[in-house]
Amino acid sequence: MSEVGGSQGRRREAAGPASGVPSEQLDTVSGANESGTVSDGGAGAALLRISHLRKAYGSNVVLRDLSLDVPDHQCVALIGASGSGKSTLLRCINLLEVVEDGQVFLQGKDITDPRVDGDTVRTTVGIVFQSFNLFPHMTVLDNITLAPRRVHRVGRRAAEADGMAMLERVGLADKASAKPDELSGGQQQRVAIARALVGKPLLMLFDEVTSALDPELVGEVLDLLAELREDGMTMLVATHEMSFARQVADRVVFLADGEVAEEGSPQQIFDGPTDPRTQRFLRRILDGGRL
Ligand SMILES: Nc1ncnc2c1ncn2[C@@H]1O[C@H](COP(=O)(O)OP(=O)(O)OP(=O)(O)O)[C@@H](O)[C@H]1O
Ligand SMILES: [Mg+2]
Repeated sequence: MSEVGGSQGRRREAAGPASGVPSEQLDTVSGANESGTVSDGGAGAALLRISHLRKAYGSNVVLRDLSLDVPDHQCVALIGASGSGKSTLLRCINLLEVVEDGQVFLQGKDITDPRVDGDTVRTTVGIVFQSFNLFPHMTVLDNITLAPRRVHRVGRRAAEADGMAMLERVGLADKASAKPDELSGGQQQRVAIARALVGKPLLMLFDEVTSALDPELVGEVLDLLAELREDGMTMLVATHEMSFARQVADRVVFLADGEVAEEGSPQQIFDGPTDPRTQRFLRRILDGGRL
C-alpha cells in the first residue's frame, strides 16, 4: 500500500491553487438567481450540499435519497463497493448527468436548477478521472492552457504563465514541452490534475485517480492530493485507497444502497463502524489485505 500524505498536522493557510477565488465567482453560475426564485442551501451552508439526490439508469436506481455536505477546505473521501454509485454521484455534481430529483447546492446556489449553465459550473467544479484524457499530439503545457485559451479567451502569454505556475505546483515544470507519452502514468495524472486546477476551481472531484496506475506510481499522485488538502482545497475523492481515506481525509463517507450508509471521521469509520454494511465492506478489505 502506498504511503500517502505527510502530516495530518495543522493546515497551512489557504495559499495554493485553491485560493484567490473571488467569492462572487458563483454569482455567474446561477443567473436564474436574479429572479430570486432559485432556492439556496441555507445560511452557513457547506461549500457543497447534496440534498435528497435521486439518479436512476432505467430501472436501476443508483442514488435513491442521498444527502451529503462537503464543508469548505475539507477533503471528504467517498468509499463503497464497486457499483455503489461513487462515480455517478461525482458526475451528477459536475452536471455530467441529469438528476431525477433532489438538489446540489454550491455556495448555497442550486446548480441542478435547469436554468443553470453546466459549462459555467464545470469551470467552478474541477473533475479528474481515472483515465487522464490528455491530447497525445499536444505538449503538456498546451494541454493545460487549451481550455483557458479556447473557452475562457485568456491570452497565450497569461495562459502559459498560469499553466507554468500550475506545472510548478505539481512538480512538472521541466516537462512543459514534453508530449504526454513521454511521461509516466503518474506524471500524466499530475498533468491532468494541473489542467483541472488551472481554472482555479472552488471544488475538486477526484474519481479513482490512481486506479489506472502501476502500484509504484500511486503514491506520487496521492501525495499531490494530500498537498492540495493542506493548501486548503475543498475536495471530494472517490477512492479504493483506504490508506488515503484513513490518513488524509477529514471525513469519510460510505455509500451503500444508493445513500450515505455511514459517515464520520476516519477514526470513526475505520476503527468503529456502526452500520453492518460498513462493517462487512471493511472486513472484506481487511481480508484482502488492503487496510
Ligand atoms: N451510463 C450509465 N448507464 C447505465 N448504467 C450506468 C451508467 N453509469 C453507471 N451505471 C450503473 O450505475 C451503478 C453505479 O455505477 P458507478 O460507476 O457510479 O459505481 P462506482 O461506485 O463508481 O463503482 P466503481 O467502484 O467500480 O468505480 C452501476 O450499477 C452501473 O452499472
Ligand atoms: Mg467509479
